Amino acid sequence: MRPEKIVILTGAGISAESGLGTFRDKDGIWTRHRIEDVATPEAFARDPARVHGFYNARRAQAADARPNAAHAALARLQRDHAGEVVIVTQNVDGLQEAAGATVIHMHGELSRALCAACAHRWDAPREMAVGAACPACARPTARPDIVWFGEMPYHMDAIAAHLGMADLFVAIGTSGNVYPAAGFVEEARMAGIETLEINLEETAASGLFDRTLTGAASAAVPAWVDGLLGSAPD
Ligand code: APR
Repeated sequence: MRPEKIVILTGAGISAESGLGTFRDKDGIWTRHRIEDVATPEAFARDPARVHGFYNARRAQAADARPNAAHAALARLQRDHAGEVVIVTQNVDGLQEAAGATVIHMHGELSRALCAACAHRWDAPREMAVGAACPACARPTARPDIVWFGEMPYHMDAIAAHLGMADLFVAIGTSGNVYPAAGFVEEARMAGIETLEINLEETAASGLFDRTLTGAASAAVPAWVDGLLGSAPD
């Protein structure tokens, strides 16, 4: 039976073939940087130049990256599927939007800046500098609009509402290490929702999914979408 409402969670693995690193694979980002040095509010308070340097480098890399066939396939699914397709991403690159989809960013976006004082948001410059002024309140409190470890991810109420109404939950290219995203599959199972994992390899969470498709996202995701769109509507 073709699912009506599909909620898709993507992780770094969907952007790997666009040349952006993942976090926990061999030579992943967290094998070269320590989370406590670059991805916590305490790190930013202690050494803002180091944190800006880390995100400036990733922002430049993401700006030069292009969506791959997996991003394009999800955009096509969102456009052509008769029901609703909600794409939630842990990724902070803009590749899924660049492929032409609407996306819920639960961990923020490299392309956006946030004022730590007044919560104003604006398009980040390619290079953010220490003490940059907020365009709204003029205080030197600009920071990357990224959800750091220890901070609450964005849009959790909306995500929970979508998940509660889904017929199918799909996790693509995520290792299932970081909550709350890693808990979505358990929430889906408790709600009796069908679950599918698409990943290059088995993950620690694979046993929680009804089905797993193993392969590189740029091949496995288009094949899955073709099968879904090609399947006769009931
Ligand atoms: N195709 C499909 N899956 C892939 C590919 C690929 N080409 N390459 C890697 N993967 C899979 C890996 O097998 C792994 O399961 O992508 C996953 C990447 O896992 P992580 O590096 O842990 O990335 P992610 O799950 O997105 O991390 C979640 O952790 O550090 C925080 O905020 C950060 O959003 C990130 C969160």
